[in-house]
Amino acid sequence: MRDTILILNGPNLNLLGQREPHIYGHETLADVEARCRTLAATFGLAIDFHQSNAEHQLIDWIHAYRVGSAGIVINPGAYTHTSIAILDALNACEVPIIECHISNVHRREAFRHHSYVSLAATAVMAGFGTQGYELAVRHIAHLRGAR
Ligand code: DQA
Repeated sequence: MRDTILILNGPNLNLLGQREPHIYGHETLADVEARCRTLAATFGLAIDFHQSNAEHQLIDWIHAYRVGSAGIVINPGAYTHTSIAILDALNACEVPIIECHISNVHRREAFRHHSYVSLAATAVMAGFGTQGYELAVRHIAHLRGAR
């Protein structure tokens, strides 16, 4: 647990690679997972990687990693902009939280400019494409003093 990063993906991210590829790219979530695992291993870290379209499931995973894990990387999808329940779960966390968006949400529709999750996030990634997940893993490793 101490050496494990939880990477969470919210609604519609199961369709990564098929859904609006001009915005989210052609890589699948399985591709992202594989790259994160390979990178994390170089820091002696493991990855637990999950996706759900259900808010309660995301909250249950946050609860399971809120204390004692290496950190949480979360792309909450559209729940970013709506979910006080996910914010409350993240506020209960004692580990670093990296909010990660594939697209630059600030360049998109106004309703994507506000994030509840940012109120609890240690750091926020947006617009780095799927590479943002790896940058987030790298930052958690950096916070732990791992090399
Ligand atoms: C997203 C941005 C959100 O606004 C959107 O609802 C998503 C994906 C991103 O990764 O860019 O589902 O979180």
